[in-house]
Amino acid sequence: MINKGIILAGGTGTRMSPLTKAVNKQLLPIYDKPLIFYPLSILMLSKIRDILIIVNKGQINQYRKLIQNGKNLGIKVSYQEQSKPRGLPDAFILGEKFIDNKSVAMILGDNFFYGQGLSENLNKYKKLKSGARIILHRVLNPELFGVAKVNKNNKILNIIEKPKKYISNLAVTGLYFFDKKVVKYSKQLKPSSRKELEIVDLLKIYLRKKKLTSEILGRGSAWLDSGSIEDFYKTSAFVSAIENRQGFKIGCPEEIAFNNKWIGKKEILNAIQFYGNCNYANYLKKLI
Ligand code: DAU
Repeated sequence: MINKGIILAGGTGTRMSPLTKAVNKQLLPIYDKPLIFYPLSILMLSKIRDILIIVNKGQINQYRKLIQNGKNLGIKVSYQEQSKPRGLPDAFILGEKFIDNKSVAMILGDNFFYGQGLSENLNKYKKLKSGARIILHRVLNPELFGVAKVNKNNKILNIIEKPKKYISNLAVTGLYFFDKKVVKYSKQLKPSSRKELEIVDLLKIYLRKKKLTSEILGRGSAWLDSGSIEDFYKTSAFVSAIENRQGFKIGCPEEIAFNNKWIGKKEILNAIQFYGNCNYANYLKKLI
């Protein structure tokens, strides 16, 4: 059972410059809330309450202004700086103390998940005894992602980062579940030609040891990552369409905390005051 989670929310966001010159990508809006609320919500829906947010050097205060220490959400949030983007597995080296020899989940700060039965699935995925688990999703443009080739029984045969030649249309999403060995294995990795530690190299260590399993998110689920401004607009349009049709918000951490009974009416009232006179606060009012 995994009770700790990391949100990797650094990165240079170069593809979105000048938007990302002064503000980190994960603080930019997806429709009506900052991008980071969505991966944070995913960890909270997984009932993970001990969370480390890894951010760029000098940016902890920006995140703390928004999410604080988590008490307001009935969770514990700590922060750590990454001095430069050394690759995704760097999160496990930086997070060694936080991980504390336990198993851990990681979600990339720019990943968005939505779909019927998602919470139930997340709570199933995190019941990892040993090894690593990845979540796959079919995409039209696999060359933009880590890609896994699987056999009929979903057994992983190979994983390649951004393959130039087609091997499969199953993208490896940015939500990973690892046992405690992840820190040791991450330290064994060598930087790739783009001078980063590669997540696929880490996954391949587990694969070689026959300790890597996968789950495929069905076509009733949406997975989107926000690497470019077009992605931001598309994901925003998706969130807007659903929220304005149903009247429910996607990725509202206070609502998840309240439904999980981690916080009560008092914390919701505090949050309403914290956000001030806005639609988001009006939505929180309706919860109580
Ligand atoms: O979104 C899923 C994909 O994410 C996977 O399919 C790929 O296998 C994986 O490598 C990753 O690919 P990206 O090209 O999207 O990774 P990117 O460099 O954009 O980083 C993803 C997020 O992690 C982004 O929000 C920035 C943050 N990041 C990234 C690196 C390399 C950090 O905070 N620190 C880092 O060192």
